[in-house]
Amino acid sequence: MQIHTPPQTCNFPRVTIVGAGRVGSTLAQRLAEKNLANVVLLDILKGMPQGLALDLLEARGLETHDREITGTNEYADTANSQIVVITAGFPRKPGMNRDDLLRSNAKIVVEAAQKAVEYSPEAIFIVVTNPLDVMTYLAWQATGLPTQRIMGMAGVLDSARFETFIALELGIAPKDVNAMVLGSHGDLMVPLKRYSTVKGIPIGELLDDVTIERLVTRTRNGGAEIVELMQTGGAFFAPASATSVMVESILLNQSRMLPIAAYLQGQYGLNDVFIGVPCYLGCAGIREIVELNLTPEELQALHVSAENVRQNIHRAKEILQQ
Ligand code: NAI
Ligand code: 2OP
Repeated sequence: MQIHTPPQTCNFPRVTIVGAGRVGSTLAQRLAEKNLANVVLLDILKGMPQGLALDLLEARGLETHDREITGTNEYADTANSQIVVITAGFPRKPGMNRDDLLRSNAKIVVEAAQKAVEYSPEAIFIVVTNPLDVMTYLAWQATGLPTQRIMGMAGVLDSARFETFIALELGIAPKDVNAMVLGSHGDLMVPLKRYSTVKGIPIGELLDDVTIERLVTRTRNGGAEIVELMQTGGAFFAPASATSVMVESILLNQSRMLPIAAYLQGQYGLNDVFIGVPCYLGCAGIREIVELNLTPEELQALHVSAENVRQNIHRAKEILQQ
């Protein structure tokens, strides 16, 4: 007689998070506590993802969710995931920019993507590891996935930061602010003043140009500001929230319009590069890339950003061949 019935997991989506560090483990917590998905946390460190998973499971009754959380060092345990999020790699140290991470993270991301896709060939992949746009390109090449099923998370975070700074400046609720930040995740990101509003009112009608420029600069330095303050790694609460918004839009087929690092094939006059642009995100991944009517200056800024990504893709390919 069977007295122990294994938990029923068959119909609930599974999300694998490769890299159970600060971003990965916080994301696991967000997804489970929102009751969105069963989560598999994978890390190279022995025992660490297992310990985190047990800790999160012990909070399950208190947080009143029913999701399973598994910690593992084996890709076989990630099989048949609907979504794979890659956060494996090193974060920035004070004084480093995201491109300094290229050398250390390229091989980690390629290996993680290859192993994960082997067990979850139908999954949608979201890359988080920095330098974001380059790592997403490498993961795409490593997996051979159709481009609607592989993307990078950065624009949602950068836009949330811009929204936060606008809200703080005006002394209003951040949920009433809607900002749009395109381009690469780095110093050359492109915060769009014209497409940033408070309840539909362009911020240019509420703030003067000097103030907006100050907020734009703070947004560009948003990651570095936190690294300098913490001195031990980078931001992870807001990055995990931003990634969870993308996961939610996919799992619930919300078709939200989000700025996502997507593969461009002619859109915005750009080719063969992953860079942040507005996309509709649903259950099949990127349903559509939205082409905004950018001014010549905005378009130029996006092209400068893309050129920088392209140069770093080139550098990354050289590193991988060494
Ligand atoms: P962390 O150091 O806390 O975690 C990284 C984890 O990756 C560690 O647990 C490490 O053991 C694991 N790892 C290393 N090599 C691995 C491998 N081969 N296979 C599996 N796991 C491996 O770092 P944190 O703060 O979680 O950041 C992770 C990455 O995300 C960094 O590259 C960081 O720069 C990036 N990031 C990107 C953001 C974005 O907006 N795209 C925002 C925040 C962080
Ligand atoms: C951030 O923007 C480090 O990319 C990371 O916080």
